[in-house]
Amino acid sequence: MPSSAHSDSDKQQSEHVRSFGRRRGKKLRPGRERLVDELLPKIKFDVSHPPSQQFAGAVNDIWLEIGFGGGEHLAAQALAHPQIGFIGAEPFINGVAKLVNTISDENIKNVRIWPDDVREIFPTITDSILGRIFILFPDPWPKKRHAKRRLLTHETLDEIYRMMKPGGELIVASDHTDYVRYALFQISTHPGFEWLAKSATDWREPPKGWTRTRYEEKALAKGIKATYLVFRRQS
Ligand SMILES: C[S@@+](CC[C@H](N)C(=O)[O-])C[C@H]1O[C@@H](n2cnc3c(N)ncnc32)[C@H](O)[C@@H]1O
Repeated sequence: MPSSAHSDSDKQQSEHVRSFGRRRGKKLRPGRERLVDELLPKIKFDVSHPPSQQFAGAVNDIWLEIGFGGGEHLAAQALAHPQIGFIGAEPFINGVAKLVNTISDENIKNVRIWPDDVREIFPTITDSILGRIFILFPDPWPKKRHAKRRLLTHETLDEIYRMMKPGGELIVASDHTDYVRYALFQISTHPGFEWLAKSATDWREPPKGWTRTRYEEKALAKGIKATYLVFRRQS
């Protein structure tokens, strides 16, 4: 498999540096806390079983969303594609609670949640099984001294490459110009991915079937447009 030529220091950073901010916001309402206590254990991603064994009905593909925030996009995708199994990872518990609430309200059956750092479940995910990975509005960590917290290191990309099916799609969106440049550089210098954009419309418009996330709505409200980057995993 093509592997990036990341340095040892890059490797150490992505293994040990926290890529997310706060884990908790406002105290959860008692009803929502009860729902999380009851439902989350039943739909939590199970590190002792491969992903393909974790969905009740037969699924014909598995997609992963990293850092789903409040889960707006993930829930909409899961409802639109009942034949696909979804894994969502998010360490911010209020966001997890929001998605658990939507899953309960909408009776969604095809989502497994990892309420923590996605990198912890990478070793459990077998090779070449993910058809699509979404990383939407990742924390840009704009200060120079925080840049090492950015999630899209070549080491993370090596893992993404390993877990994805050949021909699978990696979709990254951001409203932060520097981060877009960084993501584009990181992914297009990785030998395992090809950027699919043919014209400006391809990065200015979201892919088909898109649901806006909370961060995207916040950016749009400030008049900031997002950039959408779609890559294909090479065989
Ligand atoms: C700026 S927010 C965007 C949330 C959501 N995707 C949206 O667009 O509304 C970035 C999210 O990524 C999550 N995140 C950062 N590092 C992560 C990691 N290693 N594993 C899983 N989620 C992570 C953060 O907790 C945060 O909720």
